[in-house]
Amino acid sequence: NTGNNFTGKRILITAGGTREPVDPVRYIGNRSSGKMGYALAQAAKSRGAEVILISGPVSLSPPAGVEFVKVETTQEMREAVLANFNQVDIVIKAAAVADYRPLEPQEQKIKKTGEIVTLQLAKNPDILKELGTLKKHQLLIGFAAETEELIANAAEKIRLKKLDMIIANDVTLPGAGFDADTNIVKLLYPSGRVEELPQMSKTELSAVILDKIYNLMINLT
Ligand code: PMT
Repeated sequence: NTGNNFTGKRILITAGGTREPVDPVRYIGNRSSGKMGYALAQAAKSRGAEVILISGPVSLSPPAGVEFVKVETTQEMREAVLANFNQVDIVIKAAAVADYRPLEPQEQKIKKTGEIVTLQLAKNPDILKELGTLKKHQLLIGFAAETEELIANAAEKIRLKKLDMIIANDVTLPGAGFDADTNIVKLLYPSGRVEELPQMSKTELSAVILDKIYNLMINLT
């Protein structure tokens, strides 16, 4: 149902993966291509929303007409998200956020030393969990990237982060998750309701997700 209209609504979308520097030439990252988040940004824009896309480094171009903020680390993503949070109506967090960062990123390229080296990691802030504690009128939509116990783990995230909906993907399935052009997801709600969707392109899935958000939005007002 592409007739749903988001005119006058501001939607903040995060996409891509964050990168955490180890030294000037190396980082810890993940396999997010940005395809899911960029498809959502495109879909929201074409339904009339004002879209702010906050993205880790990816090889995609941002859709025309969206406000674009490029970030690298989780801490930069957190700052950009918090700076915009009060002005938006809806947040969709499709980004794959690094949960840990090297404790002491080195200023010079690390030299080869022993056969085994150890990298100490420090915990990153959980951006979405923080939004859950700050939210007033906003709808908060998260993703859950899981490799086991899909429903149980996603249900825990919806509760912990005070979300209005979570899109759970089993990233071990072919045609789902990181870098694929399609996705296979289940939608979970705070009530415990679960909706299972068939495999579809990330563009088609974005339209379905926006339909569901529209329903949540009109139930609010
Ligand atoms: O980019 P693609 O290649 O198209 O791949 C799409 C995708 C697999 C990245 C996407 O569908 C997806 O699942 N995104 C969420 C990835 C993730 O970090 O999941 P998570 O289960 O670790 O985190 C749960 C939620 O909390 C996510 O909405 C995440 O953005 C958010 N989070 C997580 C950790 C953290 N420190 N801060 C956060 O805000």
